[in-house]
Amino acid sequence: ALKYPPFKPVGLTDRTWPDAILARAPVWLSTDLRDGNQALIEPMDAQRKLRMFDLLVRIGFKQIEVGFPAASQVEYDFVRKLIDENRIPDDVTIQVMTPAREELIERTIEALRGAPRAIVHVYNAVAPVWREVVFGMSVPEVMALVQRSVQQVQRLTDAQPGTEWTLQYSPETFSMAELEVSLQACETAIAAWGVGRTIILNLPTTVENATPNVFADQIEWMVRRFKDRPEVVLSVHPHNDRGTGTASAELALMAGAHRVEGCLFGNGERTGNLDLVNVALNLYVQGVSPGLDFSDIDAIRTEVEHCNQLPVHPRHPYAGDLVYTSFSGSHQDAIKKGFAARQEGDAWRIPYLPLDPKDLGCNYEAVIRVNSQSGKGGISYLLESEYGLELPRRLQIEFSQVVQRVMDTEGKELTAPLLWTLFEREYGLG
Ligand code: KIV
Ligand code: ZN
Repeated sequence: ALKYPPFKPVGLTDRTWPDAILARAPVWLSTDLRDGNQALIEPMDAQRKLRMFDLLVRIGFKQIEVGFPAASQVEYDFVRKLIDENRIPDDVTIQVMTPAREELIERTIEALRGAPRAIVHVYNAVAPVWREVVFGMSVPEVMALVQRSVQQVQRLTDAQPGTEWTLQYSPETFSMAELEVSLQACETAIAAWGVGRTIILNLPTTVENATPNVFADQIEWMVRRFKDRPEVVLSVHPHNDRGTGTASAELALMAGAHRVEGCLFGNGERTGNLDLVNVALNLYVQGVSPGLDFSDIDAIRTEVEHCNQLPVHPRHPYAGDLVYTSFSGSHQDAIKKGFAARQEGDAWRIPYLPLDPKDLGCNYEAVIRVNSQSGKGGISYLLESEYGLELPRRLQIEFSQVVQRVMDTEGKELTAPLLWTLFEREYGLG
C-alpha cells in the first residue's frame, strides 16, 4: 500500500491533457538486454543474460527487449533458449530488434519461431544527417525502405500464425528529424503493417539534443495526430546525453505518450538510456504505483552490477549506497525530529528523506552517521536508537564537544559502537 498522498504541485491547476502532473504509470519496456547490452564493455554472456531476464520478470516488466538476434550467434541462441525452454511467463512479451535490412529481418523472424507472443522492432534513421551523410538516401528512398521492410515483416509473420505478433516501428533519430518526415515514416509503417492492427510507434532521442520540453512538444505533436487511433501505441525511448533523460521521459508522458523504454539504473549507449528505476520511483513518491517491484533495491542493484559488470554510482537516485545517509548535523537533527513527530499510519513526512528507505528494503538506522560535519543531533540519535541512551540536552552539548575533539584529531566517521565506547570512557562507565 502506498503511503504517499497524490502529488499536487502548488500553483498548478489540473488539466485533462496534456497532463500537468504524472498521474498514471506508463507501459514499461526494458531494453537492458538489447540497448543496455550493446553498450557494455563486455556484452553479457548467455548466463548473465538469463539472470538479467529473470530479474526483469521478477521486478514485473511485461515487455522485455531481449536482444538483436541477427547480430550474433549468442544473441540468436539466447532468444531460442527463452522460447525452447519455455522461460517466458504467460504475461510477458519478448521484443527483438532489427535494422530495416532484408537479410537481418529474415533472420530475426526465424529466431522467433514458436514464440507465443512477440514484438518485432524494426528501425531506420530518419534525421537529415543520417539520411544525407550516413546512408545517402532521399526522403522518398527512406519511405520506400520503411514500406519494404515492414511489408517483409508482415509477410514473414503472417506465415507463422501460431505467434501473436506486434510490430514496433522506430524512426531512429526522431528528435533530430523534421516532424513531417517522422510522421510520414510512421504512416508508411502503419499502412504496410495493415491499418487497424496494433502497432507501437517508438520515438527516440537517439542522441539527446534539446531541452526536455522540446522533446515533449515533439511528442505532443505526434500524439495529436494519433489520438483517435487506439491501435497506435506511442512509445518514447530517451537517451541521456544532456543528463535529462528522466525529465524527457516524464514530460513526454505528460504530453501523452503511453509507453516508455529504458534500462535499469540508466545503462546504455554513451551516457545511457533512460533510467527506468528513476522514473518508476519518481511516480511512487508522488503516490502513483509504478507496477514494478523495487522493494529490495540493494539486491536488484547487486544483480544488475553483476550482469552489466558496471558499478551503480553511490549517489544514484533511490539506489546508491549513500542516498539514505545524512552527514550534516542540521539534516540529522531535522530527520530526528521528523521521526519523533511521526504517528503510526501518517503519510511520509520526514525532512530530507524523499521516501521511506524501508519501502526499498533499506534500513534507516544507517541514515544517521557521525562525522566532522555532524552536530549533537546525530550523536544523540545514534546513542538513543542503538543503545536506548537518552541524553539530557546539556549532556548532549557537552558530549558533542568531546566527539568533535576526536573528529578533529582523527577526522573519520564515528559509528554507533565507537560513540558508545567514547561515551563509556568519558563518563567512566563499565
Ligand atoms: O536510440 C535509439 O534510437 C534506438 C533505436 C533502435 C530505437 O535504440
Ligand atoms: Zn537507444
